[in-house]
Amino acid sequence: MISRILRGREPRHVRSRARTALVAATVGSFVAAGLVATAGTADAQSTLGAAASAQGRYFGAAVANNRLGESDYVNTLNREFNSVTAENEMKWDALEPSRNSFSFGSADRIVDHARGQGMSVRGHTLVWHSQLPGWVGSLSGDQVRSAMNNHITTVMQHWRGQIHSWDVVNEAFEENGSRRNSVFQRELGNGYIEEAFRTARAADSSAKLCYNDYNTDGQNAKSDAVYEMVRDFKSRGVPIDCVGFQSHFNSNSPVPSDYRQNLQRFAALGVDVQITELDIEGSGTAQANSYRSVVETCLAVSRCTGITVWGVTDKYSWRSAGTPLLFDGNYNKKPAYDAVLSALGGSGGGNGGGGGGGGGNASCTVSYEQTDRWDDRFNGRVTVRAGGSAISGWSTTVTVQSPQKISATWNGSPTWDSSGDVMTMRPNGNASISAGGTTSFGFTVMANGNWSAPTLGSCTAS
Ligand code: XIL
Repeated sequence: MISRILRGREPRHVRSRARTALVAATVGSFVAAGLVATAGTADAQSTLGAAASAQGRYFGAAVANNRLGESDYVNTLNREFNSVTAENEMKWDALEPSRNSFSFGSADRIVDHARGQGMSVRGHTLVWHSQLPGWVGSLSGDQVRSAMNNHITTVMQHWRGQIHSWDVVNEAFEENGSRRNSVFQRELGNGYIEEAFRTARAADSSAKLCYNDYNTDGQNAKSDAVYEMVRDFKSRGVPIDCVGFQSHFNSNSPVPSDYRQNLQRFAALGVDVQITELDIEGSGTAQANSYRSVVETCLAVSRCTGITVWGVTDKYSWRSAGTPLLFDGNYNKKPAYDAVLSALGGSGGGNGGGGGGGGGNASCTVSYEQTDRWDDRFNGRVTVRAGGSAISGWSTTVTVQSPQKISATWNGSPTWDSSGDVMTMRPNGNASISAGGTTSFGFTVMANGNWSAPTLGSCTAS
């Protein structure tokens, strides 16, 4: 039996490897404050998300809202990934095209899709010189300050509690380590990054706050400058939780040989590190080997909490000519996919099939999220996700803490233990879930003064 302190700020896929091992070795229930509970099976996981989750990491993809109507795109996304970044829809020009007039629709659709699938969401990005609407560039002095702080606050509060990590500031340094000459730098000076992070913490204290950049993957003048900023922030108590390494690689900018050492030196400052926009131009074995080394690097750094690839399929990549992603234009798995899956400890699938066939053993995972809250009660949703094989039945337990009481349930068939605190949920209709697919059930908890998240047991599949 494992007991843990509830940590509301911890995204569901982000666990230490040590903790994951304990979970895997334990049949009993454990606290699942939005964490995935992996079924107690020794079988290798056969999707990227499940394999990463078994390593205590998330595996995400950048997603474009206007592709969510394409079934192959959505099926691949839903099957393989457990974290999502909006490729463009959360950038300043998309969210606040004119001053204090916000349009959240496209980004909301991505967030809703992700959460409906039990995926977590990375926020990208609040303060960036690029994809910045013209009106910001024509402001001066304190007008820039108030526009920046208003943008951060309004955007973060819109998705408060729903974003595991935010790129608060993106690409603020030049290659030589000096500050990029953006409107923020020009009008507000060096202090703008600190101010942005302080504003962000106040807006949503549940999100991890990241600085994100490119060409900082190895040790160089630019990453040295970011390192010095993070060291300074940590020493002065400026809120920063993570550093994102974009990791856009190609033959001119290959995976650096000191990638692990570089990530490790940041982690040693007391921040998480994340690989945030991974793509590697190339093909075949060479590309696969590069991808493998990136995954191995993240797994070797205990504070590397997850990897996001910058797109689902080569055909929609921002660098599509370089075929830099894990699925080809027909959504076939590339050799790079197999390399990533096996580096994550998973297996199955094979080239070209696209079917994600698995080890033949039924398995499932469960994750919890709170969907609504009122003065006296809250609603929860549990997403049940099949492993690499289709399953024909499942069950899991939800335990509430007295004096909490479950007062209603939907989309499931519950039974109760004698205390009434432990609900075992089974399907109430079609019990089948395809490989990597999901279903969900919901319930209302009368808090009676206790707002703890329920505890999920392991998911049992048949
Ligand atoms: C890119 C998107 O992929 C493109 O669709 C868009 O046209 C330009 O931006 N660094 C970042 C990302 O932080 O936001 C960029 O995304 C790629 C480089």
